[in-house]
Amino acid sequence: MGRASASGKVILLGEHAVVYGHSAVVVGIENGAEAHAEHSQTSSIAVGTQTTTSDRQTLELAFAALLHCLSAGPCRAQVHLHVPAGCGLGASAAAGVAVARAVLDLLAPAPGAESPARRSAVLDAAHAWERVFHGNPSGIDATAATLGGCFVFSRAAGPSSVAVAQPLRLAVAVADAPASTRTMVDRVARLRASEPERIDRVLARIGELALAGCTALQRGSPADLGALMNENHASLQQLTVSTTRLDDACGWARAAGALGAKLTGSGGGGCVIALCDQSSERILQAWRSHGLACFDMILRPSAH
Ligand code: PMV
Repeated sequence: MGRASASGKVILLGEHAVVYGHSAVVVGIENGAEAHAEHSQTSSIAVGTQTTTSDRQTLELAFAALLHCLSAGPCRAQVHLHVPAGCGLGASAAAGVAVARAVLDLLAPAPGAESPARRSAVLDAAHAWERVFHGNPSGIDATAATLGGCFVFSRAAGPSSVAVAQPLRLAVAVADAPASTRTMVDRVARLRASEPERIDRVLARIGELALAGCTALQRGSPADLGALMNENHASLQQLTVSTTRLDDACGWARAAGALGAKLTGSGGGGCVIALCDQSSERILQAWRSHGLACFDMILRPSAH
């Protein structure tokens, strides 16, 4: 039996723009998914614990692509998600990375720290898996699921660790129903095709916000980071990927003292994040009073 885990993620700044080559900043959520794998006559995969937004056929196609990429024979895999699917917290990439690691653990157990060669095999397999679900993923989710920690990412440069100057507290709420990343990425592509200049300006600005966010993280300027998050949310509204419920959840967080708030992930539903000024208590209370499931997490310096 092979077994492994992988991180979920929140995108602090830069979703959608990252698909078009701009930068984004992401933070891993520890233990996003766990997987077990064993040899079997035929391949099959089951996802327990949380519902997924994908149909069975897509899941099986993604698993086949992953096994092919790892040159693995038929396997049976079982996945447990610890973050809700379809909410922008990187559940599908966490599942893909955990499954790839579990299959490799089955084929060639290698205890201890993951070697660079192994990590690159895991990432390739997770990208193959993600392409089945999302068509044209930037790769940020699979990279975050593999590395964890906080990093800035672009398609051309890949990941680069961000040394967060001081611990920062983030609050996360599931503010709206799950949505499909593929649908939302297609929506932005259609909008861009109809208004290329305006949308390219919005996307470029989002990339600038992400780079400014890295500086704010490195300098320990949470107020600046919060302002960047608020502007990023406004840019995502211009891309038409926010919803009334996501906007409301951001508004409630700001009214409860958040330094900034935005949707996270592809939007159309799912989660919002808020940067807390010291304590998360008032923000979580505000969200709970509106019936939202929520939690908080601490953003710490990371080293890859
Ligand atoms: O999978 P989600 O919903 O967290 O979105 C991923 C971020 C996008 O930029 C919208 C897509 C991508 O491939 O980077």
